[in-house]
Amino acid sequence: MELYIDSANLKEIREASSWGILSGVTTNPTLIAREKGADFRSTIQEIATLVDGPISAETVSLDGDGMYKEGIDYAQWHPNVIIKVPSTTEGLKAVYKLAKDGIRTNVTLCFNAAQALMAARAGAFIISPFIGRVDDVGVDGMGLIREIVAVYENGGITTKVLAASVRHPRHIIDAAIAGADVATCPLKCSSSR
Ligand code: E4P
Repeated sequence: MELYIDSANLKEIREASSWGILSGVTTNPTLIAREKGADFRSTIQEIATLVDGPISAETVSLDGDGMYKEGIDYAQWHPNVIIKVPSTTEGLKAVYKLAKDGIRTNVTLCFNAAQALMAARAGAFIISPFIGRVDDVGVDGMGLIREIVAVYENGGITTKVLAASVRHPRHIIDAAIAGADVATCPLKCSSSR
């Protein structure tokens, strides 16, 4: 299983990158906003100089056309940029159009296996089940990873399963055992962060 860092903080990304363990980076609007004064595009481009792997940049439009347009823009920033879109029907429209243009997507905010199956069929490169948030509502986050892995294996689907909303190191190990392709987590990967 590959490890990504979930951060837009260049110092943190530089530190984790120096350990030689990083295969990619995920960001989201909250993480970008935390880096006060930093421009979104230049932050993503700077991250691309630190990590040679997929770097997820999230769209903020609510409609598929808006997400698609944002995706077309972001994809020009660097070849490693992956367009993050939500697991909504509008998100599926954007994934489908971006995939036809050869642009890779990360379908985020996935809370059930049906969303994961539809994202893959629309052409998603990555699916991001949010295990911590699923646990938060009393459902089995790791069980969701196992279900998606099984659904993808049965269907011969190559979309990468990325364990997101990771809260502690045990989540990482259990995701690896469950067959996730990637786990993304903050540099301080504990519930006390
Ligand atoms: C991943 O891409 C997400 O940015 C991240 O895992 C969100 O996790 P949270 O539930 O801690 O916000």
